[in-house]
Amino acid sequence: MQTTKRISPATAISGTLSLPGDKSISHRYALIGAIAEGDTRIANYSTGADCHSTLGCVRALGIEVEGSGTEFVIHGKGLDGLRAPAGDLDAGNSGSTIRMLSGILAGQPFSSRIFGDESLSRRPMQRVMKPLGQMGARIAAREGQFPPLRIEGGKLRPIEYTLPVPSAQVKTCVLFAGLYAEGETTVTEPVRSRDHTEIALREFGAEIEVARQKITISGRPRLEGRDLVVPSDLSSAAFFIVAALLVPGSHLNISGVGLNPTRSALLDFLVGMGARIRVPNLESQNGELIGDLEVEYSELRGGTIDGGLTAALIDEIPVLAVLGAATAEGLTVRDAGELRIKETDRIRTVVDNLRRMGVEAEELPDGMIIPGRQKFHAATLDSLGDHRIAMAFAVAALRGDGDSVIQGAEAASVSFPEFWDTLARCTE
Ligand code: S3P
Repeated sequence: MQTTKRISPATAISGTLSLPGDKSISHRYALIGAIAEGDTRIANYSTGADCHSTLGCVRALGIEVEGSGTEFVIHGKGLDGLRAPAGDLDAGNSGSTIRMLSGILAGQPFSSRIFGDESLSRRPMQRVMKPLGQMGARIAAREGQFPPLRIEGGKLRPIEYTLPVPSAQVKTCVLFAGLYAEGETTVTEPVRSRDHTEIALREFGAEIEVARQKITISGRPRLEGRDLVVPSDLSSAAFFIVAALLVPGSHLNISGVGLNPTRSALLDFLVGMGARIRVPNLESQNGELIGDLEVEYSELRGGTIDGGLTAALIDEIPVLAVLGAATAEGLTVRDAGELRIKETDRIRTVVDNLRRMGVEAEELPDGMIIPGRQKFHAATLDSLGDHRIAMAFAVAALRGDGDSVIQGAEAASVSFPEFWDTLARCTE
C-alpha cells in the first residue's frame, strides 16, 4: 500500500545515530553461510526487505534460519547441502539477491526458478546469464533477458571472465559459481567495485587471491560457519550525512559505520568539496573497516562525479544530486548510464523530483548537471517505488520553504525500514 510522509523544513540535524546493518554485506553473509558447513551467527543483519528476500530464498533452499530482528543463525549445510526448492524463489525488489544467488543456483544438481517484483522484472539479467552460460549452466529468461530466470544447474567449468560493466553483483555471481567449478575461476573488473564478497569468502575459509582488479577463486573449498557482525550501512548513513551538510547548524554523530575503502569514496568526495567530516576511530571487524562519523554543516564547493568515481558512488548519486543544488558550483554526474537500470531510472526520477522543487537540473544520457546555489521549494515528490529516491527527497525536503510530501514513502523499507523514525529523531 502506498503511504505518504509530510516533511517540514529543519533547523538542524543533530544527535547520535546507530543505523541498521549494511545491505551488501548482509546478503553475502547469509548466502555464504548457507553453503558453509555449520552455524553462521550474524549480528546487526540488515532490516531491509531486500535482505529478508535473501533469507527467504535460503530457507526455501532447505537451510534452517533461526532468529529475528537483526540476529540470525544460518545452519549451513556445506557446498552440496542445498535442496531443490518446492516452489519458485522470490527475490522481491532485490537485484543483489537474484544476481548473486544465481551463481550458487548454477552449481546445483537441480533446477530452480527465481522471480522478482515489477521493478526487478524489468532489470537486465544477461550480465549474469552470459558468464554462467560460459561455465556450463543453462538459463532461460523472459524475452531472453528479464526475470523470472529458470536456472538448470549442473557441473560447472572454471572461466576467466572480464566484466563488461563494473558490477559487484555480477562479480559475486561469477565467484559464487566458481566455488562449484573444479579449478580456478578468474574475474577481472574494469574498475574496482565493492569487495565485500572477496573479504567474506576469505573469512569463511575460501582460497581467494586479489591482484589489483583480477580476482581468482579456487573451486570446491571447505567453507566453515562463522560468527559475524555486520557494520552499519554507509549508503544508509549517506542520507543523514547529506542532511547534516545541507541544514545549517547541524552536528551529527553516526556510530559503527562500515568504511570499506571500496565504499568510502563518498567521504573523500564530500571532504574534497569542503565537508567537515571526522572519523575519530577506525577498527577492523571480520575483515571490514568500521568507524564512527562526526559530521558538521559545511558550505561546499560542488564537483564532478565521473569515471571510476561514478561506480564507487553509484548508490549515493540520488542524494548527492540533491546536495549538489545547494553547493556553490553545483554537481555534474557523467558515466552513470547504470543508474537508468536501477530500481527506477534514477537519472530521470532524480531530475523530475528536483524540478518539482523548482530546482534546475539537466538530464544527460549518462548523467545530469545540477547548477549550484539553488533554493528548494516545497513540493509533492514521488519515489516511484524506489527506496533511494524516497529517502533522497525526504532529505531535500528538509531544506524546503514549507512542508513537502513524499509519495510512495513505504519504498524506504527495501533497505532502511527505520528511516522515517530515525529522520524524525534527529531533526529539529
Ligand atoms: C551491490 C552492488 C551495486 C549496488 C547495489 C548493491 C552489491 O550494484 O548498486 O545496491 O551489493 O554488490 P551493481 O553490482 O549492479 O553495480
